[in-house]
Amino acid sequence: MASYEDVLSLSVRRGFIWPAVDLYGGFAGFYDYGHNGVLLRRHWEDVWVESFLGLSDNYHLIDTTTILPEAALKASGHVDHFTDILVTCTRCGESYRGDQLLEAATHQEEEGLTAQEIDARIQELKIRCPNCKGVLGPSREFNMMFPVGIGPTGKDRAYLRPETAQGVFLNFKREFEALRRKLPMGLAIVGRAYRNEISPRQGAYRMREFLQAELQIFFDPATFGDALPFDAIASVPVRIAWAAEKDSSGALEIPAKDLVTRGLPSWYVWHLVQVQRFYLDTLRIPRDAFRLAELDDKERAFYNKIHFDIQVRQESLGGFKEVGGVHYRTDHDLKGHEAGSHAKQSVTVGATKLVPHVLELSFGVDRNVWALLDLSYAKGDRVVLRLPARVAPVPVAVFPLVNKDGIPERAEALWATLRKRIAAFYDDSGSIGRRYARIDEIGTPFSVTVDHETLEGKGVTVRERDSQKQFRVLEPELPNTLERLLSGEATFPA
Ligand code: GAP
Repeated sequence: MASYEDVLSLSVRRGFIWPAVDLYGGFAGFYDYGHNGVLLRRHWEDVWVESFLGLSDNYHLIDTTTILPEAALKASGHVDHFTDILVTCTRCGESYRGDQLLEAATHQEEEGLTAQEIDARIQELKIRCPNCKGVLGPSREFNMMFPVGIGPTGKDRAYLRPETAQGVFLNFKREFEALRRKLPMGLAIVGRAYRNEISPRQGAYRMREFLQAELQIFFDPATFGDALPFDAIASVPVRIAWAAEKDSSGALEIPAKDLVTRGLPSWYVWHLVQVQRFYLDTLRIPRDAFRLAELDDKERAFYNKIHFDIQVRQESLGGFKEVGGVHYRTDHDLKGHEAGSHAKQSVTVGATKLVPHVLELSFGVDRNVWALLDLSYAKGDRVVLRLPARVAPVPVAVFPLVNKDGIPERAEALWATLRKRIAAFYDDSGSIGRRYARIDEIGTPFSVTVDHETLEGKGVTVRERDSQKQFRVLEPELPNTLERLLSGEATFPA
């Protein structure tokens, strides 16, 4: 189990992620990535693209501008509804998010309350300013978008995008024409989003600039369900926390078909199962650390009709935390842009003319990176990051056992050959023990050591990170052996 300090300290020590601009005393809500953090994040993005864009040959990546004009965000509803409740102390002026103030006092989720309801709860619970004990209030709605003035006078109002999704909706029609005029069609963006979070005090969990990986699936609600192989997943148990029960620390295991019986569309449940597979099978998150948590009418985002959060339990953040969401956005966005732009968003597929509906699979990349660091952190007589091989920053390290007798030269030659097939890393600094400790802490699953026996043609040793066991492999067999171990095709010899 890892505390927040454990994860952050490893993260800083080994070049993953840390608070930005600390030279100038910090910059709340902004984080920088170091060399290993970028690799881990990139590998997470690679498996995300492979897993979700791989669901159909009509799902594609696009890339769009991060600044959007006010008209587009007015039409999407963000100018009027993308708000949090802001509570300000009347004495010291400190700002708080209303729901977080309540949650700190009640230790349960307090989402979806209006400003008046929050004021009433603050009175009822006698909450004072956590900073100076002054009187709080009154609450008001605060728009979380960062405004930007465009052009030299700044008179054309725009905003940094609060979600990548809008870039997709604005390009839906062009892509539909450029692709095969077929539904379902999926368009994804992996890119930055910006929110002026009121009190980003939860470390890297609540950031003001962050990365999202979002796939918008455009579909015809009359036919989407029939097109998916639901029978193949009908009996899969899905880890669910219903809205009324999600304060609990667990989840129910409900067969996919029973979720449909309870009223969820089969196409929605099919995608819940794909998301669960991504976390349990691809990222190897322990089963009991994953759940899909339903949001009720009050908690849902303004554009969603059905909304389950993807949650991962992280000790460093105090329990189950949202890392993504499965959102049924209906035709809210395309209809909004149709009304705002007067450009028709309907398409004709076969005999049907419709404005497609949207299922959004939305993921916070930074939150996922943090969750992997948290869940992989293991501390005993050493610190080990038990990352799955697919996402580890460096899959293989090559070491000379000692820096003499021609061993470093032999190790470097081996490394040069290996690098043609595997992103291997070479290290000859410090003792072999320190080198093992370093790569254990960045989660490198396998290391190769060249020793005196290698010079006698007896191969090299391969060491496995978690068990620290070693076995010998002849050099010509090494690349194949490592590739098979990394892909999971082979397991480490006992
Ligand atoms: N397009 C839908 C959308 O943006 P959201 O629930 O507001 O939905 C999606 O955000 C995901 O983005 C969240 O589940 C979370 O993982 C990530 N996210 C949202 N706000 C964030 C923040 N302030 N810092 C880091 N990640 C955030």
